Amino acid sequence: MSTITETILDTSFKKDVYNGLTANPKFLYSKYIYDKRGDKLFQDIMELDEYYLTNSEFEILSMHKKAISELFRGNGKGIDLIELGAGDGKKTKILLSYLSENDYDFIYKPIDISKNAIDLLTADLHCELPKVRVDAEIGEYFEVLERLQQYNSRKKVILLLGSNIGNLLHPRAIDFLSHLKDTMNTGDLVFMGFDQKKDPQTILDAYNDPTGVTAEFNKNLLHRINSEMNANFDPDKFKHWEVYDPESGTAKSYLVATEKMQVNIEAIDLTICFDPWETIHTEISQKYDDKVVRWLAEEAGLSIVTSFSDANNYYKDYVFRRK
Ligand code: AVI
Repeated sequence: MSTITETILDTSFKKDVYNGLTANPKFLYSKYIYDKRGDKLFQDIMELDEYYLTNSEFEILSMHKKAISELFRGNGKGIDLIELGAGDGKKTKILLSYLSENDYDFIYKPIDISKNAIDLLTADLHCELPKVRVDAEIGEYFEVLERLQQYNSRKKVILLLGSNIGNLLHPRAIDFLSHLKDTMNTGDLVFMGFDQKKDPQTILDAYNDPTGVTAEFNKNLLHRINSEMNANFDPDKFKHWEVYDPESGTAKSYLVATEKMQVNIEAIDLTICFDPWETIHTEISQKYDDKVVRWLAEEAGLSIVTSFSDANNYYKDYVFRRK
């Protein structure tokens, strides 16, 4: 990389796009899918029948809210309920309303990278659950995790719903869990969703819906590079492709070039050539079983307290404590 190129790469997004598209094979990180349009497309995905993850977790929280809340009960000083990647809070509201109706002493602290999502959620909770005390924060998970260390006077329960951990490869997932562990004191808990291994067809259908919302979600990476880096990707010339390996439990998303083309990304002074059928790997959505979750937890210094699943065993929420 020349010094001129290095000075052009003045944001992580630019650096990651440069590194990903000059690599062989090409890749882009899925975290960059989420701008305003990407957030909206993900909301649309969560409404799809094929995307069973949302309904499964909704079912778990509805069915087991009493038992879950009992686990969350504090030591007389109340609890801080901290949610990482809160999104629209649709599922969390089940717990919040149960805790509130049953006079639990708690503060809800949603944390999300998107200011838009936090503003909407705070306004919505203010209307729908006015008794709930909300203290929201905007930030990156890891940045906020450091700050979480200060929350040590009351019991902390850290919520991570939606199987977001599945977008990390195992080593990064262990790293993430281990950071979480470092922010926890004895008695603190993590409540986290892990999508489970199941009929491979069910998984493929969830990530390859017939209406094409998931394809559009994936292609939002190209739209974003076009608008933020003055590039000329033609998203219609890429095909969304999903594969699932039932042995490893890894679902992988790709954008596949349907013809030979050249793309110019002005802001990073880069021209990339695509051969016909060349791929850009865009996302992993890992699926788990108890053995793998136990291994991840062990590696990170956590242990499983209990878990809750839906009637189909499609999805599980695990409760962890420090080992
Ligand atoms: C946010 N994340 C857990 C979703 C998933 O299932 O991997 C993102 C997603 N990608 C395609 N559909 C949904």
